[in-house]
Amino acid sequence: MDKLLIKGGYRLNGDIRIAGAKNAALPILCAGLLTAGDVSLHNVPSLQDVNTMLKLLRQMGLQVTQENGVTVLNGSQIDRLEAPYDLVKTMRASILVLGPLLARFGEAKVSLPGGCAIGSRPVDQHIKGLQAMGADITIEAGYIHARAKRLRGARIVTDMITVTGTENLLMAATLADGETVLENAAREPEVTDLANLLVAMGARIEGIGTDRLVIQGVASLHGAQHTVIADRIETATFLCAVAATGGDITLKNTRSDILDVALDKLRDAGVVLTTGPDWIRAQMSSRPKAVSFRTTEYPGFPTDMQAQFMAMNCIAQGTSRVTETIFENRFMHVQEMNRLGAKIEIDGHTAIVNGVERLIGAPVMATDLRASASLVIAGMVAEGETLIDRIYHLDRGYDRMEVKLSAVGAHIQRIKS
Ligand code: EPU
Repeated sequence: MDKLLIKGGYRLNGDIRIAGAKNAALPILCAGLLTAGDVSLHNVPSLQDVNTMLKLLRQMGLQVTQENGVTVLNGSQIDRLEAPYDLVKTMRASILVLGPLLARFGEAKVSLPGGCAIGSRPVDQHIKGLQAMGADITIEAGYIHARAKRLRGARIVTDMITVTGTENLLMAATLADGETVLENAAREPEVTDLANLLVAMGARIEGIGTDRLVIQGVASLHGAQHTVIADRIETATFLCAVAATGGDITLKNTRSDILDVALDKLRDAGVVLTTGPDWIRAQMSSRPKAVSFRTTEYPGFPTDMQAQFMAMNCIAQGTSRVTETIFENRFMHVQEMNRLGAKIEIDGHTAIVNGVERLIGAPVMATDLRASASLVIAGMVAEGETLIDRIYHLDRGYDRMEVKLSAVGAHIQRIKS
C-alpha cells in the first residue's frame, strides 16, 4: 500500500488545474447504459473510482474507448445485467447501474453495497422508488434482483434527500412509460450535470436544479456529447490547503458559483478570494480564523468538505463547532488529527475544535477519501514529517493530489509499497 510522506511548513504558490467531478462522472458513465448510441465525454477525471466504474461497465458489455482526453461509451452490446459483489463492495456508487439497466433491459441484479466506513448508507430509497415505478424487487443472497417489463411513471417522495438515489431514479424515469415526479430530489450540481447530459440524450426533464424533477418517459435515448462539471470538492480541498498553509494559488477550470457556502466560510476565515468565470484565486497571509458550520444537502455546506475545513480549523485562531448531519460516522479523521497535536473533542454529531498554534508531524492512517484529504492538509501545516498510510482512499477520488500540490510548493512524496 502506498504512503505519502509530507514535510510541513511550506506555503503554496501557483496554479492548479481542477479535474472533472468524481461524483458527476460516476453517474454519467452509468448513463451510457441507457442508449445504444455513442456518449462522448470530456473532462472525465483520472481516478481509481472511475477505473472501477469502467471495469464494471465493461463487464456488462459497454464498449469504452479513451483517446485524446475523450471517453466514448457505446451501449449497443450490453449482455450482462449484473453488478457483482467484488466490485460493488469496493465502490458503493456501483448501485448507479440499477436504474439504467432495469429501465432499458427490464432486469438488473446488483449486489447490496454492505457496510461503509462513514455510515450505514442503506439503499432503501433507490428500491422504494423503483418499486413505485412498478419494479418487482427481491433481495436474495446479498443481491438486489429487479425486474419490470417496462417501468411506469410514478410520483416518488423519498424519505430523505439522497444524491445517488435521485440519480438512479432520474435515469430510470427517462425510459419509463409516462410521467415521473421526483419530490425531495437532491439539488447537488452533480445531479444537475447528469440531468443535462440526459436531456442532450433526448430525455424530457423539467425542474433541473430544483427539488422537484418532472420526467416524461421516452421510448429510447440517443448518443450525445458532454463535458463533466468541475470538481467542487477538489476545488474546496485546495482552498482549505492554502487557507491553512498560507500563500497565493489560482485554481483553473473550476466554478465559484457552485461553492457559495464554502467560499463564504473561507472569507470568514480570512482568505482573500477573487473569482472569474472559470477560476478562483485564493490569497492567505495570516493564521486562519476558526469557522463553525453544519453539513447539509446542497446548497448548504457539503459533508464532503467537512474534514478538510476541520483541518484548517485545527490551526485556526479560536474555537469552532463542526456538526455533521449527513453521515453518522464521519469524524474518523479526528483521532488522527489529535495525533498531530490538534485539540478536538466529539460531542455526539458535533466536533469542537480548539485551534492550536502548531501541529507536529506523526504517522497517521487514512480512513476514507475526504478524511485522507484532510490529513494531507494537516500534514502540510504540521512541523516535521507526517507519514499517511492507506492512501488508496485518496487515489479513489483525487487525481494525483500529491503531484498537483508539489507543483505549487508542497513537499509531498509518494512512497510506493
Ligand atoms: N440514505 C438512506 N437510504 C437511501 C439513500 C440514502 O438512508 O436509500 C441516507 C444515507 O445513509 C445518508 C443520507 O441518506 O445518511 C444521504 O446519502 P446519499 O444517498 O445522498 O449519499 P450517496 O448518494 O451515497 C453521494 C456522494 C457522497 C456524498 C453524499 C452526500 C456519490 C457517488 N457519492 O453519496 O460522496 O458524501 O452523496 O453528499 O455521489 C465522497 O465523494 O467522498 C462521497 C462520500
